[in-house]
Amino acid sequence: MLRILQTGQEEISGLAESQHKCIVIFALVCCCALLIALIFSAVDVWGDDEDGITVETCSRTCRVVLVENIPEDLSIPYKDTVSLTAGLHELLEKARRSVEIVSPRWALNSTKSGSNLPQAKQGQILLHQLKSLRSRSVSLRVVSGLTNSSELDELTRSGADVHYVNMTALSRGQLNSCFWLVDRKHMYIGSAGMDWRSLSTMKEFGIIIHNCSCLVLDLHRIFSLYWQLQYKDFLPSIWSKRLTALYNKDKMLQLSLSGAEAEAYISSSPDIFCPKDRMKDIEAIKRVIQEAKTFIYISTPNYLPMLNRTKTKYWSLIDNMLREALVLKARLEVRVLISCGDETEPLTRNFLWSLKALCVESLRCSLEAKFFVPREQSDGRLSRISRSRFMVTDSSVYLGNLDWVGQEMAFSAGVGVVIRQRLAQNNTVVERMKAVFERDWHSHYTKTLDPNKIPVCSTHTVKDTSV
Ligand SMILES: *[C@@H]1O[C@H](CO)[C@@H](O)[C@H](O)[C@H]1NC(C)=O
Ligand SMILES: *[C@@H]1O[C@H](CO)[C@@H](O)[C@H](O)[C@H]1NC(C)=O
Ligand SMILES: *[C@@H]1O[C@H](CO)[C@@H](O)[C@H](O)[C@H]1NC(C)=O
Ligand SMILES: *[C@@H]1O[C@H](CO)[C@@H](O)[C@H](O)[C@H]1NC(C)=O
Ligand SMILES: *[C@@H]1O[C@H](CO)[C@@H](O)[C@H](O)[C@H]1NC(C)=O
Ligand SMILES: *[C@@H]1O[C@H](CO)[C@@H](O)[C@H](O)[C@H]1NC(C)=O
Repeated sequence: MLRILQTGQEEISGLAESQHKCIVIFALVCCCALLIALIFSAVDVWGDDEDGITVETCSRTCRVVLVENIPEDLSIPYKDTVSLTAGLHELLEKARRSVEIVSPRWALNSTKSGSNLPQAKQGQILLHQLKSLRSRSVSLRVVSGLTNSSELDELTRSGADVHYVNMTALSRGQLNSCFWLVDRKHMYIGSAGMDWRSLSTMKEFGIIIHNCSCLVLDLHRIFSLYWQLQYKDFLPSIWSKRLTALYNKDKMLQLSLSGAEAEAYISSSPDIFCPKDRMKDIEAIKRVIQEAKTFIYISTPNYLPMLNRTKTKYWSLIDNMLREALVLKARLEVRVLISCGDETEPLTRNFLWSLKALCVESLRCSLEAKFFVPREQSDGRLSRISRSRFMVTDSSVYLGNLDWVGQEMAFSAGVGVVIRQRLAQNNTVVERMKAVFERDWHSHYTKTLDPNKIPVCSTHTVKDTSV
């Protein structure tokens, strides 16, 4: 009886000892895991501080301004839109804490064609304002894909933080993203980069949204992602949770845009830049096309479903979406407005003609394509005038940074915004952008696609009056 008790006690103390060992080992394992996590976090891409703004506290009562640059030599009236220069100045005046800019180009101070051109003035004023942000204690952060920009060097000297993203290493594409974030409250997305031509001789279109920290919070996550890719030549296999998209096609942001109800989300390209839940541009375009019932109007500098990485290939994604829509939806009206120039690939015409052919006779759909005429430079070259990039349908708009060209969509970085609104409301963004499209479509600067005339670009032009 006694012996049984003794061995029992021994067993119990042995058990306690092995429990101690277990605890020690467990603690060691925990330490190791923590260490490994720390090491990994160093290569992970973290999100930025979000200033305590959360999905619960952010503002969704927003004001929207459509901005355009219309060159002086075109007689096209502003249509419920504001000049781009005025829109950007308003944003800069509002800035109290921070301005964050991503732009594919930095050429505000024109040097090439003589900086005393009257058209170059707006660019210089904008550059001057950006340089003087520091004196108002407003921080300026810029993300760029340019390695050798004297203008960015100049901004750095005046206090800006500039981060370089090596797109060549990351996706062998280009950083074509073009947007502004101001005070994490206001934003601009559009075709106009930081280039004096965007404020003078080019036709540009963009959207400015004020007082909209919910949408800006989400766009800022894309800025954060770029910011942290500084000089990286690989992408992390795991993205930080703070880069996860807040809104997407299945969870749209419900907001009020200048008094009208709307739903919105941000999309991004290329695919490898999209962390969890982030919509890819191509998915956003697909969704907008699929939801269209009566019309789809597309304004893009270029339409070319081709890839030319190692060898030239047909890139079918968008072309197929349009074909499917034309074939399946009765009475669908599709209009494509392309900006013409020397660089316009002649195959563009063939692709558009092939889409148009789908609707001949048997189907009740219609596809029309027009070219926005080019400007004839003093050296005889024909350059594009319009860089507008948007699509408007009966229910939604999509405004993005990329041309509808396979090569760009697959490899270059860009962002897009989708806004969905019911047309029964007054004065919606969807209606206003439709009006902008129709104004351009019916202006005397467009030419209908003609299969017998090659090249369609060269017949009518706008003379260059800048020299
Ligand atoms: C901005 O949004 C906030 C919160 O929704 C609202 O209280 C405020 O009035 C708005 N400001 C402007 C100028 O619209
Ligand atoms: C633009 O460039 C000229 C000379 O290249 C320089 O004198 C001028 O200060 C620049 N303007 C701005 C706003 O930086
Ligand atoms: C960088 O730019 C300067 C002038 O802005 C030019 O002289 C130089 O060749 C450029 N360097 C490279 C590597 O492109
Ligand atoms: C960008 O990446 C490419 C390819 O990895 C490399 O050759 C180039 O030097 C990098 N550029 C910079 C400025 O780091
Ligand atoms: C591929 O196409 C782009 C324009 O779409 C052009 O800039 C580039 O030079 C082309 N690359 C090759 C290898 O042909
Ligand atoms: C649109 O505006 C007109 C007058 O401006 C008004 O009569 C009408 O009720 C409005 N419709 C809606 C749906 O708000």
